[in-house]
Amino acid sequence: MCGIFGCILKEKNSAPVIHEALKRLEYRGYDSVGVAALHNGRLHIKKDQGKIDEVHEVHNLDDLPGNVGVGHTRWATHGAPLKVNAHPHVDCSGQIAVVHNGIIENFTELRVELENLGHIFKSKTDTEVIPHLIEESLRRNPSLDLANAVLEAVKKLEGSYAIAVVSTNEPDKIVCARKESPLVIGVEGDNVYCASDIPAFLPLTNRVVMVEDGELVIISHESLEIKKIADSTTVTREPEIFDWTAEMAVKKGYPHFMLKEIHEQPACLRNTLRLQDHYLDLMATFLDRAREVFLVACGTSYHACLAASYMFSKLAFLATYPVIASEFAEQHGKSVNIDSTILAVSQSGETADTLASVNSARERAATVLGLTNAMGSSLTRVSRVYIGQQSGPEIGVAATKTFTSQLSVLAQLALRLAKKRGKVSQDEMDFLAEKLDEIPDIVETIIETQEENAKRIAEKYKDARTFFFLGRGVSSATAYEGRLKLMEIAYVPSIAFPAGESKHGPISLVESGFPILFICPKDGTRKTLIGNIMEMKARGASIIAVIEEGDEEIKKLADDYMEMPKGIPEVLSPIPYAVPLQLLAYYIAVKRGLNPDTPRNLAKSVTVK
Ligand code: F6R
Repeated sequence: MCGIFGCILKEKNSAPVIHEALKRLEYRGYDSVGVAALHNGRLHIKKDQGKIDEVHEVHNLDDLPGNVGVGHTRWATHGAPLKVNAHPHVDCSGQIAVVHNGIIENFTELRVELENLGHIFKSKTDTEVIPHLIEESLRRNPSLDLANAVLEAVKKLEGSYAIAVVSTNEPDKIVCARKESPLVIGVEGDNVYCASDIPAFLPLTNRVVMVEDGELVIISHESLEIKKIADSTTVTREPEIFDWTAEMAVKKGYPHFMLKEIHEQPACLRNTLRLQDHYLDLMATFLDRAREVFLVACGTSYHACLAASYMFSKLAFLATYPVIASEFAEQHGKSVNIDSTILAVSQSGETADTLASVNSARERAATVLGLTNAMGSSLTRVSRVYIGQQSGPEIGVAATKTFTSQLSVLAQLALRLAKKRGKVSQDEMDFLAEKLDEIPDIVETIIETQEENAKRIAEKYKDARTFFFLGRGVSSATAYEGRLKLMEIAYVPSIAFPAGESKHGPISLVESGFPILFICPKDGTRKTLIGNIMEMKARGASIIAVIEEGDEEIKKLADDYMEMPKGIPEVLSPIPYAVPLQLLAYYIAVKRGLNPDTPRNLAKSVTVK
């Protein structure tokens, strides 16, 4: 997730306006920043790695001439957060500048094609193919205008994008386009703005034209023209008025970041499916060769590791040890050696216990692999291979979208490894890959159909003094995560166990009305789990079940239930099944009068540069 902005101003210089707008978009990404402005037939560009204030202090981002320009605040996906990778990116002639938010999946192929045609690339980003593609279109057909050259270029792109393009040859316009990444236009008299999000221009105008997927927009002082990319037909759309405060705009109208981030999951999961094959393959090769694999993390990321241990075992027949990072050195420190591989999972890439485990493993010559949401974080610097999970910044302290994205990456990795090891038939592989592709839509359906239900259940149980979360198999990991969410944001003391273990002690807590949440996908553990439900019901527990749609048997046993779409494979189930638990925790916290974004005594690790 990055933030893009562009403006065409009647009288003022664009750079200070771009700088302020980027600051309002910094919640979308903050590892590097850049501005390009057009003046006297030239592009003037300032960009560097670092937060906006840091870059401004060194380069004075306001000091660029011209009243048309674009800017970008980055959250790295391809290429480390370095100056050379910061946007805007330009073509060979330095006349076309592009800012981009999204992921171009076929950039490697496009780059090779363009390099064969003589184009020179400077960065490691996927974005840089775009100015070169536009340049190439203009080279081949000099009579094209910028808008049509952009149209030709975007038709070659696979993946997601919101772009804003300026060119010295048509200095009075900005051409924008979008596919799957957000883009909005703000209008105010003769001044026109384009941005990833409304907060960017909200202090300047609240008259907003929403750009839809598959549209290209040409903005100038005189006009705002929207075309469909597929067939160039013109679209007419009037501005809407948004009466949002700045805070509401940043949260996109949601009352809390946590709820916004829960709702962002379908989009994040789509991004997570756009990982580069090369890195997945490389990581799978290391895992395949290892004598032993430790999956090391803290908190929610540890729960992702726990779920992954089932995925690796069931799909690739690889035994892995999920380990809580703060215990790693004590538990396994002495046994780690050159044949060990540590896959460290950390959203922030900065969690002290995770880094300490990694460092202790490195001292013993083990191989370190990293999965993180923060490119350029300490974890990326110490990992032999790392993968960026593509979730964008998470502002709510409780991990939600970053958890489901981690699970999606780990599932992709398990599938790669399964293929490498020849452990799963091609048919099953194809089936699972297809299902993984469907997960974003499934999560969207769950949010649509279960949010009201989660609210209702939250109202019923909001005063509960304790909660149990039980599941079997891979759903034990889901249970642990559901418990952590409820505990950390709603302050409800909660307990999670693999359901089979509940009768070895925890069951003594159960009395009449004691709420127990069972995670019950229709998998191999369901029959035994029903036995556990009956045991608890017999002791007067209130049963809340997360079930597959139409599971009448469990519905009859449950006091309340949340229904998940049919046909989700067992190994992928923690991704969608975690979502109703996030919603439940969120609404219980809100109903208890708490702010779920800022639970007491907790803070998010931040990326330290
Ligand atoms: C819980 C939560 C924490 C983090 C943990 C690890 O909602 O956010 O438990 O998961 O602190 O953080 P990272 O993944 O940044 O290492």
